[in-house]
Amino acid sequence: MKLMDIYFHLKSDLDYVEKWLDKEVRSKQKDLQNAASHLLKAGGKRMRPVFVLLSGQFGDYDREKLARVAVSLELIHMASLVHDDVIDEATTRRGIPTVRSEYGNRMAMYTGDFIFARALMLLSEIPNAKIHQLLSKSIVRLCEGEIEQIRDFFRLNQTFRNYLRRIERKTAILIEVSCKLGALTSQSDPLHVRALGRFGHFLGMAFQIVDDILDFTSTEEKLGKPVGADLMQGNITLPVLYALHCTPAGETLRRLIHPNMSRTEADEAISLVKASGGLEYAKKIADLYLGKCLHQLSLLPKGRARDSLEAIALFTTAREY
Ligand code: FPP
Ligand code: MG
Ligand code: MG
Repeated sequence: MKLMDIYFHLKSDLDYVEKWLDKEVRSKQKDLQNAASHLLKAGGKRMRPVFVLLSGQFGDYDREKLARVAVSLELIHMASLVHDDVIDEATTRRGIPTVRSEYGNRMAMYTGDFIFARALMLLSEIPNAKIHQLLSKSIVRLCEGEIEQIRDFFRLNQTFRNYLRRIERKTAILIEVSCKLGALTSQSDPLHVRALGRFGHFLGMAFQIVDDILDFTSTEEKLGKPVGADLMQGNITLPVLYALHCTPAGETLRRLIHPNMSRTEADEAISLVKASGGLEYAKKIADLYLGKCLHQLSLLPKGRARDSLEAIALFTTAREY
Protein backbone atom coordinates (compact mmCIF):
# COMPACT_ATOMS: atom_id res chain seq x y z
CA MET A 1 0.00 0.00 0.00
CA LYS A 2 1.24 3.49 -0.84
CA LEU A 3 1.13 6.47 1.49
CA MET A 4 -1.16 8.25 -0.95
CA ASP A 5 -3.70 5.41 -0.70
CA ILE A 6 -3.73 5.71 3.09
CA TYR A 7 -4.48 9.42 2.95
CA PHE A 8 -7.06 8.67 0.24
CA HIS A 9 -8.95 6.22 2.48
CA LEU A 10 -8.70 8.52 5.48
CA LYS A 11 -9.39 11.68 3.49
CA SER A 12 -12.92 12.39 4.62
CA ASP A 13 -12.05 11.75 8.30
CA LEU A 14 -8.86 13.80 8.05
CA ASP A 15 -10.75 16.67 6.41
CA TYR A 16 -13.15 16.49 9.31
CA VAL A 17 -10.22 16.63 11.76
CA GLU A 18 -8.76 19.59 9.86
CA LYS A 19 -11.98 21.59 10.03
CA TRP A 20 -12.28 20.82 13.73
CA LEU A 21 -8.67 21.91 14.34
CA ASP A 22 -9.44 25.18 12.63
CA LYS A 23 -12.43 25.69 14.93
CA GLU A 24 -10.41 24.99 18.07
CA VAL A 25 -7.83 27.70 17.47
CA ARG A 26 -10.51 30.41 17.28
CA SER A 27 -10.86 32.93 20.06
CA LYS A 28 -12.63 36.22 20.72
CA GLN A 29 -9.16 37.55 21.45
CA LYS A 30 -8.02 38.06 17.86
CA ASP A 31 -4.26 38.37 18.56
CA LEU A 32 -4.42 35.01 20.29
CA GLN A 33 -6.43 33.50 17.44
CA ASN A 34 -3.92 34.76 14.88
CA ALA A 35 -0.98 33.37 16.83
CA ALA A 36 -2.74 30.05 17.50
CA SER A 37 -3.72 29.50 13.88
CA HIS A 38 -0.24 30.48 12.64
CA LEU A 39 1.39 27.04 12.98
CA LEU A 40 -1.80 25.23 12.02
CA LYS A 41 -1.82 27.04 8.66
CA ALA A 42 1.70 25.81 7.91
CA GLY A 43 0.26 22.29 7.54
CA GLY A 44 2.14 19.23 8.75
CA LYS A 45 1.79 15.50 8.36
CA ARG A 46 -0.97 15.18 10.99
CA MET A 47 0.77 12.00 12.07
CA ARG A 48 -0.92 11.77 15.45
CA PRO A 49 -4.46 12.06 14.02
CA VAL A 50 -3.58 9.43 11.42
CA PHE A 51 -2.46 7.05 14.19
CA VAL A 52 -5.57 7.72 16.28
CA LEU A 53 -7.87 7.10 13.31
CA LEU A 54 -6.08 3.96 12.10
CA SER A 55 -5.76 2.47 15.59
CA GLY A 56 -9.45 3.21 16.09
CA GLN A 57 -10.22 0.88 13.21
CA PHE A 58 -9.37 -2.19 15.33
CA GLY A 59 -12.52 -1.73 17.43
CA ASP A 60 -15.93 -0.03 17.16
CA TYR A 61 -15.11 2.91 14.94
CA ASP A 62 -16.94 6.05 16.06
CA ARG A 63 -15.78 8.91 13.87
CA GLU A 64 -16.99 11.70 16.13
CA LYS A 65 -15.22 10.32 19.20
CA LEU A 66 -12.04 9.39 17.35
CA ALA A 67 -11.82 12.76 15.61
CA ARG A 68 -12.17 14.43 19.01
CA VAL A 69 -9.21 12.44 20.35
CA ALA A 70 -7.24 13.02 17.12
CA VAL A 71 -7.77 16.80 17.24
CA SER A 72 -6.86 16.87 20.91
CA LEU A 73 -3.56 15.05 20.32
CA GLU A 74 -2.63 17.22 17.34
CA LEU A 75 -3.31 20.31 19.47
CA ILE A 76 -1.11 19.00 22.29
CA HIS A 77 1.64 18.33 19.77
CA MET A 78 1.23 21.84 18.34
CA ALA A 79 1.27 23.44 21.80
CA SER A 80 4.46 21.60 22.65
CA LEU A 81 6.08 22.86 19.42
CA VAL A 82 5.07 26.47 20.07
CA HIS A 83 6.69 26.22 23.52
CA ASP A 84 9.65 24.28 22.18
CA ASP A 85 10.46 27.03 19.67
CA VAL A 86 10.62 29.56 22.51
CA ILE A 87 13.00 27.35 24.45
CA ASP A 88 15.09 26.56 21.37
CA GLU A 89 14.93 30.17 20.11
CA ALA A 90 13.95 28.76 16.72
CA THR A 91 13.19 31.17 13.90
CA THR A 92 11.54 28.81 11.39
CA ARG A 93 9.32 25.73 11.55
CA ARG A 94 7.61 23.96 8.67
CA GLY A 95 9.22 26.52 6.38
CA ILE A 96 7.58 29.58 7.96
CA PRO A 97 8.54 31.88 10.84
CA THR A 98 7.84 30.37 14.27
CA VAL A 99 5.08 31.81 16.45
CA ARG A 100 7.75 33.30 18.73
CA SER A 101 9.56 35.06 15.90
CA GLU A 102 6.29 36.41 14.48
CA TYR A 103 4.58 37.37 17.77
CA GLY A 104 7.32 37.35 20.42
CA ASN A 105 8.12 34.94 23.25
CA ARG A 106 5.47 36.15 25.67
CA MET A 107 2.65 35.71 23.15
CA ALA A 108 4.07 32.33 22.14
CA MET A 109 4.02 31.01 25.72
CA TYR A 110 0.37 31.98 26.22
CA THR A 111 -0.52 30.70 22.76
CA GLY A 112 0.95 27.30 23.66
CA ASP A 113 -0.98 27.30 26.95
CA PHE A 114 -4.16 28.27 25.13
CA ILE A 115 -3.82 25.49 22.54
CA PHE A 116 -3.00 23.00 25.30
CA ALA A 117 -6.09 24.04 27.31
CA ARG A 118 -8.30 23.72 24.23
CA ALA A 119 -6.99 20.18 23.76
CA LEU A 120 -7.87 19.27 27.34
CA MET A 121 -11.34 20.82 27.03
CA LEU A 122 -12.03 18.66 23.99
CA LEU A 123 -10.83 15.49 25.63
CA SER A 124 -12.79 16.16 28.83
CA GLU A 125 -15.93 15.07 26.93
CA ILE A 126 -14.57 11.52 26.75
CA PRO A 127 -15.74 9.72 29.91
CA ASN A 128 -12.86 7.29 30.27
CA ALA A 129 -10.47 7.90 33.17
CA LYS A 130 -7.86 5.55 31.68
CA ILE A 131 -7.53 7.81 28.64
CA HIS A 132 -6.99 10.90 30.78
CA GLN A 133 -4.49 9.14 33.03
CA LEU A 134 -2.49 7.82 30.10
CA LEU A 135 -2.33 11.21 28.44
CA SER A 136 -1.40 13.18 31.55
CA LYS A 137 1.31 10.67 32.47
CA SER A 138 2.70 11.01 28.95
CA ILE A 139 2.85 14.79 29.17
CA VAL A 140 4.58 14.58 32.57
CA ARG A 141 7.21 12.33 30.99
CA LEU A 142 7.48 14.61 27.96
CA CYS A 143 8.34 17.54 30.25
CA GLU A 144 10.81 15.44 32.25
CA GLY A 145 12.48 14.44 28.98
CA GLU A 146 12.82 18.04 27.85
CA ILE A 147 14.48 18.98 31.15
CA GLU A 148 16.90 16.07 30.77
CA GLN A 149 17.61 17.26 27.24
CA ILE A 150 18.68 20.65 28.58
CA ARG A 151 21.00 18.87 31.02
CA ASP A 152 22.42 16.78 28.17
CA PHE A 153 23.10 19.64 25.74
CA PHE A 154 26.80 19.57 24.78
CA ARG A 155 27.38 16.70 27.25
CA LEU A 156 29.83 14.76 25.12
CA ASN A 157 30.30 11.91 27.60
CA GLN A 158 26.61 11.00 27.70
CA THR A 159 25.67 7.39 27.00
CA PHE A 160 23.63 5.82 24.19
CA ARG A 161 21.06 5.12 26.89
CA ASN A 162 20.75 8.86 27.67
CA TYR A 163 19.98 9.46 24.00
CA LEU A 164 17.41 6.66 23.75
CA ARG A 165 15.62 7.81 26.90
CA ARG A 166 15.51 11.33 25.54
CA ILE A 167 14.00 10.45 22.18
CA GLU A 168 11.57 8.07 23.85
CA ARG A 169 10.16 10.96 25.84
CA LYS A 170 10.45 13.59 23.18
CA THR A 171 8.82 11.64 20.36
CA ALA A 172 7.92 8.01 21.01
CA ILE A 173 5.60 8.61 23.96
CA LEU A 174 3.14 10.84 22.13
CA ILE A 175 2.99 8.49 19.14
CA GLU A 176 2.51 5.52 21.48
CA VAL A 177 -0.28 7.34 23.28
CA SER A 178 -1.94 8.34 19.97
CA CYS A 179 -2.18 4.68 18.98
CA LYS A 180 -3.33 3.58 22.43
CA LEU A 181 -5.98 6.28 22.78
CA GLY A 182 -7.33 5.50 19.31
CA ALA A 183 -7.64 1.83 20.25
CA LEU A 184 -9.10 2.56 23.70
CA THR A 185 -11.62 5.03 22.30
CA SER A 186 -13.04 2.30 20.09
CA GLN A 187 -13.00 -0.29 22.91
CA SER A 188 -10.51 -2.58 21.17
CA ASP A 189 -9.34 -5.88 22.61
CA PRO A 190 -6.76 -5.14 25.39
CA LEU A 191 -4.17 -7.23 23.55
CA HIS A 192 -4.63 -5.06 20.49
CA VAL A 193 -4.38 -1.88 22.57
CA ARG A 194 -1.08 -3.19 23.90
CA ALA A 195 0.29 -4.15 20.48
CA LEU A 196 -0.74 -0.80 19.00
CA GLY A 197 0.91 1.05 21.89
CA ARG A 198 4.14 -0.85 21.36
CA PHE A 199 3.91 -0.32 17.62
CA GLY A 200 3.68 3.42 18.25
CA HIS A 201 6.54 3.36 20.70
CA PHE A 202 8.95 1.54 18.36
CA LEU A 203 7.86 3.59 15.37
CA GLY A 204 8.40 6.80 17.34
CA MET A 205 11.93 5.67 18.18
CA ALA A 206 12.69 4.83 14.53
CA PHE A 207 11.10 8.09 13.39
CA GLN A 208 13.22 10.24 15.70
CA ILE A 209 16.47 8.44 14.81
CA VAL A 210 15.73 9.03 11.12
CA ASP A 211 14.91 12.66 11.94
CA ASP A 212 18.28 12.95 13.64
CA ILE A 213 20.01 11.50 10.57
CA LEU A 214 18.20 13.99 8.33
CA ASP A 215 19.67 16.87 10.36
CA PHE A 216 22.93 15.86 8.61
CA THR A 217 21.79 14.69 5.19
CA SER A 218 18.82 16.85 4.21
CA THR A 219 18.54 20.42 2.94
CA GLU A 220 17.23 23.53 4.63
CA GLU A 221 14.42 23.65 2.08
CA LYS A 222 13.21 20.15 2.92
CA LEU A 223 13.73 20.41 6.68
CA GLY A 224 12.08 23.80 7.05
CA LYS A 225 15.03 24.71 9.34
CA PRO A 226 18.82 24.96 8.88
CA VAL A 227 20.91 21.79 8.37
CA GLY A 228 22.93 20.88 11.46
CA ALA A 229 20.56 22.87 13.70
CA ASP A 230 20.48 20.03 16.29
CA LEU A 231 24.24 19.87 16.50
CA MET A 232 24.68 23.62 16.83
CA GLN A 233 22.10 23.57 19.59
CA GLY A 234 24.18 20.96 21.43
CA ASN A 235 21.73 18.14 20.85
CA ILE A 236 24.05 15.11 20.75
CA THR A 237 22.21 12.65 18.52
CA LEU A 238 22.95 9.02 17.68
CA PRO A 239 25.25 9.62 14.66
CA VAL A 240 27.34 12.04 16.76
CA LEU A 241 27.45 9.69 19.75
CA TYR A 242 28.70 6.88 17.53
CA ALA A 243 31.40 9.10 15.99
CA LEU A 244 32.40 10.37 19.45
CA HIS A 245 32.57 7.05 21.25
CA CYS A 246 33.37 4.51 18.57
CA THR A 247 35.66 6.14 16.00
CA PRO A 248 39.01 7.98 15.87
CA ALA A 249 37.13 11.12 14.73
CA GLY A 250 35.90 11.40 18.34
CA GLU A 251 38.95 13.33 19.50
CA THR A 252 38.65 16.11 16.91
CA LEU A 253 34.87 16.22 17.36
CA ARG A 254 35.32 16.85 21.07
CA ARG A 255 37.23 20.01 20.24
CA LEU A 256 34.70 21.19 17.65
CA ILE A 257 31.44 20.72 19.57
CA HIS A 258 31.02 23.40 22.23
CA PRO A 259 28.39 26.00 23.18
CA ASN A 260 30.02 28.78 21.16
CA MET A 261 30.76 26.72 18.08
CA SER A 262 30.91 28.68 14.83
CA ARG A 263 29.15 27.71 11.60
CA THR A 264 32.58 26.66 10.20
CA GLU A 265 33.19 24.40 13.19
CA ALA A 266 29.69 22.96 12.83
CA ASP A 267 30.27 22.26 9.13
CA GLU A 268 33.57 20.55 9.95
CA ALA A 269 31.86 18.47 12.65
CA ILE A 270 29.08 17.53 10.22
CA SER A 271 31.67 16.31 7.67
CA LEU A 272 33.47 14.29 10.35
CA VAL A 273 30.26 12.64 11.55
CA LYS A 274 29.35 11.83 7.94
CA ALA A 275 32.78 10.28 7.28
CA SER A 276 32.72 8.29 10.53
CA GLY A 277 29.95 5.91 9.52
CA GLY A 278 27.72 7.37 12.23
CA LEU A 279 24.83 7.88 9.85
CA GLU A 280 24.94 4.27 8.65
CA TYR A 281 25.13 3.07 12.26
CA ALA A 282 22.10 5.18 13.23
CA LYS A 283 20.18 3.87 10.21
CA LYS A 284 20.90 0.32 11.38
CA ILE A 285 19.45 1.10 14.82
CA ALA A 286 16.42 2.77 13.21
CA ASP A 287 15.89 -0.41 11.17
CA LEU A 288 16.09 -2.52 14.33
CA TYR A 289 13.27 -0.45 15.83
CA LEU A 290 11.37 -0.73 12.56
CA GLY A 291 11.63 -4.52 12.81
CA LYS A 292 10.25 -4.45 16.35
CA CYS A 293 7.45 -2.19 15.25
CA LEU A 294 6.49 -4.45 12.33
CA HIS A 295 6.50 -7.44 14.68
CA GLN A 296 3.81 -5.76 16.81
CA LEU A 297 1.67 -5.40 13.69
CA SER A 298 1.84 -9.16 13.16
CA LEU A 299 -0.07 -9.51 16.46
CA LEU A 300 -3.00 -7.54 15.06
CA PRO A 301 -5.85 -8.72 12.81
CA LYS A 302 -5.10 -8.54 9.08
CA GLY A 303 -6.82 -5.85 7.07
CA ARG A 304 -6.56 -2.37 5.64
CA ALA A 305 -5.81 -0.67 8.97
CA ARG A 306 -2.88 -2.99 9.60
CA ASP A 307 -1.60 -2.58 6.01
CA SER A 308 -1.82 1.19 6.37
CA LEU A 309 0.17 1.19 9.62
CA GLU A 310 2.77 -1.00 7.96
CA ALA A 311 3.06 1.34 4.97
CA ILE A 312 3.47 4.35 7.29
CA ALA A 313 6.15 2.53 9.27
CA LEU A 314 8.09 1.65 6.13
CA PHE A 315 7.76 5.16 4.77
CA THR A 316 8.89 6.71 8.04
CA THR A 317 12.23 5.01 8.02
CA ALA A 318 12.80 5.39 4.28
CA ARG A 319 11.92 9.09 4.07
CA GLU A 320 14.48 11.50 2.71
CA TYR A 321 12.97 14.84 3.55
C1 FPP B 1 10.64 19.12 19.64
O1 FPP B 1 11.94 18.66 19.77
C2 FPP B 1 9.98 19.14 21.00
C3 FPP B 1 9.05 18.27 21.43
C4 FPP B 1 8.58 17.19 20.55
C5 FPP B 1 8.46 18.33 22.80
C6 FPP B 1 8.44 19.64 23.51
C7 FPP B 1 7.74 19.53 24.83
C8 FPP B 1 7.46 20.55 25.66
C9 FPP B 1 7.85 21.94 25.33
C10 FPP B 1 6.76 20.29 26.98
C11 FPP B 1 5.30 19.97 26.87
C12 FPP B 1 4.43 21.13 26.61
C13 FPP B 1 3.05 21.06 26.38
C14 FPP B 1 2.26 22.29 26.17
C15 FPP B 1 2.33 19.77 26.28
P1 FPP B 1 13.17 19.37 19.08
O2 FPP B 1 13.34 20.73 19.62
O3 FPP B 1 14.34 18.47 19.25
O4 FPP B 1 12.76 19.31 17.56
P2 FPP B 1 12.39 20.42 16.50
O5 FPP B 1 13.47 20.33 15.49
O6 FPP B 1 11.06 19.99 15.93
O7 FPP B 1 12.33 21.75 17.19
MG1 MG C 1 13.66 21.23 21.65
MG1 MG D 1 13.13 22.56 18.78
